[in-house]
Amino acid sequence: MNSGPVLELVDLERHFAGAGGTVRAADGVTLTVGRGEVVGLVGESGSGKSTVGRCAVRLDEPTGGTVRINGTDVTTMSRRALRPLRKDFHLVFQDPSSSLDPRMTVGEIVAEPLKLHGITRGKEAAHARVAELLAQVGLRPEHAQRHPHELSGGQRQRISIARALSVDPDLLVADEPTSALDVSVQASVLNLLADLQRDRGFGCLFITHDLAAVEYLADRIAVMYLGQIVEQAPTRELFADPKHPYTQALLSAAPVPDPVAQRTRERIVLSGELPSPLAPPARRPTTTPAGRPSGGVFDGCRFHTRCPLAVERCRTDLPRLRTLEGGREVSCHLVADDGTAPDAAAAPSRTIPTTRTATR
Ligand SMILES: Nc1ncnc2c1ncn2[C@@H]1O[C@H](COP(=O)(O)OP(=O)(O)OP(=O)(O)O)[C@@H](O)[C@H]1O
Ligand SMILES: [Mg+2]
Repeated sequence: MNSGPVLELVDLERHFAGAGGTVRAADGVTLTVGRGEVVGLVGESGSGKSTVGRCAVRLDEPTGGTVRINGTDVTTMSRRALRPLRKDFHLVFQDPSSSLDPRMTVGEIVAEPLKLHGITRGKEAAHARVAELLAQVGLRPEHAQRHPHELSGGQRQRISIARALSVDPDLLVADEPTSALDVSVQASVLNLLADLQRDRGFGCLFITHDLAAVEYLADRIAVMYLGQIVEQAPTRELFADPKHPYTQALLSAAPVPDPVAQRTRERIVLSGELPSPLAPPARRPTTTPAGRPSGGVFDGCRFHTRCPLAVERCRTDLPRLRTLEGGREVSCHLVADDGTAPDAAAAPSRTIPTTRTATR
């Protein structure tokens, strides 16, 4: 067995060309998930998280960059060549109803990957394995006879987890696995995922809006803004000391679960919506020699229009993701190499207006 990372994304790019222009849903994303590691991917709606997740399991085709799973380059692999590798990686979707075939029984759904990859031989072995998997996700053997619509949302998500884990994958991409569920069952499904991850040791790319969940589950967190990773750090360090002004704003919106913790954050409310990915800030349109519009170049930081700390340089100079002393990564001109970072909450309102309200 390979001992390297289970997932490596190098400069991953997924551009969607449409009538209105090109959406840079993922625009140079470099990210690694180690064996048994949980990496959280967070960022506003539309920042490109699902696109990254779908490309990582090749449910979508990257337009550039490289995707390696267990060291194998799968970026342009054909469906047929990919098939035997499919047992190594799985995606759990946000909405379990859309990913479970309503005509199949739960037993058939969970057994399907086992059959497909020839993991269990014969009906009895498959039955036994299905019962075992159902028990592991907290369901009873008789659930195998039911159809997805006869189950609750939480039970359905448990089934997609059982299905994904039936073949013991090395990588699980979980895209908002609990956000479609009732709040009362979210925690139990998250706990289940955490327990299974600990027992089985699969690597996991955990995509979520739920900062409390990601703090609980992830070893490391990558923060996305408009198709790019703007900061990456071990979970504890990121929450204790976010460096990028965007991360500071994102975390400031999270409820502080432990009132005793010294994390009294001032809420930073970013002005405006996430800019359209069709026209990201600081982009200068370019044309081909034939005069047709081409991708454009970036002359500045994509976040500068909403950043409470932006200075002139942020408009004119493109920041790159840099590794700071200590190994954290951040893409911001205002963060020094030794990690010294300005506090967005303490920013005087500059040319870019922000409103700030204190939490609690
Ligand atoms: N098939 C597609 N065709 C065109 N544009 C797309 C397509 N899929 C995604 N996009 C665009 O790419 C951008 C990123 O979308 P994506 O779904 O990856 O965001 P996300 O971070 O997962 O958002 P959310 O948190 O709402 O799930 C969005 O602007 C979206 O409209
Ligand atoms: Mg999404």
